[in-house]
Parts: sequence; structure tokens; C-alpha cells
Amino acid sequence: MKKFTCAQDIGPWREAVKEALDVKADKFAFTELGRNRTLLMIFFNSSLRTRLSTQKAAMNLGMNVMVLDVNQGAWKLETERGVVMDGDKAEHLLEAIPVMGSYCDIIGVRSFAGLKDKKEDYEERVIEQFIRYSGRPVFSMEAATRHPLQSFADLITIEEFKTKPRPKVVLTWAPHPRALPQAVPNSFCEWMNLTDYDFVITHPHGYELAPEFVGGAKVEYDQRKAFEGADFIYAKNWSAYADPNYGKVLSADMSWTVDADKMQLTDNAFFMHCLPVRRNMIVTDDVIESPRSIVIPEAANREISAQTVIKRMLEAL
Ligand code: CP
Repeated sequence: MKKFTCAQDIGPWREAVKEALDVKADKFAFTELGRNRTLLMIFFNSSLRTRLSTQKAAMNLGMNVMVLDVNQGAWKLETERGVVMDGDKAEHLLEAIPVMGSYCDIIGVRSFAGLKDKKEDYEERVIEQFIRYSGRPVFSMEAATRHPLQSFADLITIEEFKTKPRPKVVLTWAPHPRALPQAVPNSFCEWMNLTDYDFVITHPHGYELAPEFVGGAKVEYDQRKAFEGADFIYAKNWSAYADPNYGKVLSADMSWTVDADKMQLTDNAFFMHCLPVRRNMIVTDDVIESPRSIVIPEAANREISAQTVIKRMLEAL
């Protein structure tokens, strides 16, 4: 595997999940694979889970790991060509990327959407430049429009917990005080649309996701109706995608918070969220603390999704 930025890069999803579960059953079976190999993790944005789980995954494979927080301790990077660099950005990404590539064997990049310019965000300019100029296999640790390591972990988790062959999985928008990217819901849709699950998306009017991510999923604007008979509730906030409101918060409607009353409408559904989560905005304390909440095993599977992806990249070096 030379790049991992979207669902298509993983190949047949059942094979990928099986490989991930094999990795999980024996995390240290491939410690020789990464010997004398180096992973460089580059963060343009903050992280708890991605940072720790990906580093642990690489260590399980015997790799050395370097972490660069671009906005803390590195030179500020210019990302656009043609800019007269007379401001506070001392280095251009086009020199920085090949230099970083010369120090490592595999690169992971986290670079969120700016939410100002839809075209710029949806062209994935930062990670695409790493793919083009680093000379190394590159994987996304959440880019502007997708978070594939999260969605792969979500799929692994659903496969582990499902009790019927074709579960009903509901992605629900929920309120949040700040404008968040569409990367997690986009990616979740992309991965759910690989499967034959009964996949439903629910959100207030104005929060429609990009059609290429919604695909053939059912969109239900009545959240309570969407929850009926669900086996998994996946909550997430996102900002508006559609013009002219791209990147804006249109609603803080607390009636969309996932609570115990709404969970009663489901078929005893499991509750999922990628974390970090704003309690009593996205989900009430009692739901996230309930025995049906699987947010912790979901986060733990981030190590497994990362290890499966890095293993495939090491095998292809
Ligand atoms: N879910 C997730 O990516 O968490 P972090 O932002 O903490 O890495």
C-alpha cells in the first residue's frame, strides 16, 4: 500500500477487517517487519487518540517513531505557491516535505480543513502535496475531508459488536459550540457505503453532506424516526457543507442531543462517537456511561486500524 487517504485504498473491506482482527489477536507477530524502519507523524492539528494509537501501532511493528508538531517548535510553513514569503512563515512546504521524507520510511499526516474555502479543503492540498513530493508512502491521520483510520476502526468495531448480519447503522448530527470539519462524517459514510448495512443519515436541514459521500445512504430529517430499530447510533457534529454556508454553524438545537429517551426508540443500540466528545451537547452523561456505549473499545481499535495500515505499507516497501 503506497497511500491511505480514503476507503478505496484499503481494498475489499471484509479482507481488511479480517486482517485487522488477526492483527488484534497477536499484535506482536510482526515486530521484525518494522526493524530499522522509521515512521514520521506530522501534526498540523491537535490529537490525543491518533497520536497515541498510531505511535503504539508502529511500535508494535518494531518501528522507530518521530513526531513533529508543525505549529509547536517547527518553522511555520507556507503551503501556497506564488506567495511572497515576507510574513511569519519561514519555510515552504515544498522544501519541507522532501526534507522530512529523507529522514523516514513512512509518513502520517494530520491536516484539518480550514473551513474557509471549500475548493481548497476538498482538493486536499496539504496531504496531496505530501503524497506527491515526499517520496514515501503517506497515510492520513485525518485530512480536510476524510478520517480513514477512524472509519476503519469504526467498521472493525461494528463488525465485532453486531448481532445481525445486516445491522441498522444511524449517523446522527448533534449540536456543538464550534464549527467542525465534515471529515469524520464524510469518511464514516464512505466506509458504511462499502458494506451492505442498512445505513441512515439524520441531520437538520442545511447540514447535507457532499453527495459523493452520502452515496446511496438514506437521509432522514426526523431524528426520532431515524433512530427507530437502530442497532448502532453514531453521533457526530459537523459544520454546513452546502453553499453559501460552507463551514458555518447553522444550529445549536439541543433537541438533537442523543439522550436516553431517543435511545429507547432503537433496538437496544450501541452508542458510538469518535471522541473527543462534548458531553451534554452531543450525548448525555447517562448514554455515554451506559453499558451500550462502546466509545472506549471503538477508540482502542484505532491502534488496530493504524497497525493494519502501517503493516501493509511496510510489506510494500
Ligand atoms: N478520534 C480522533 O481522531 O481523536 P484525536 O483527535 O484525539 O486524535
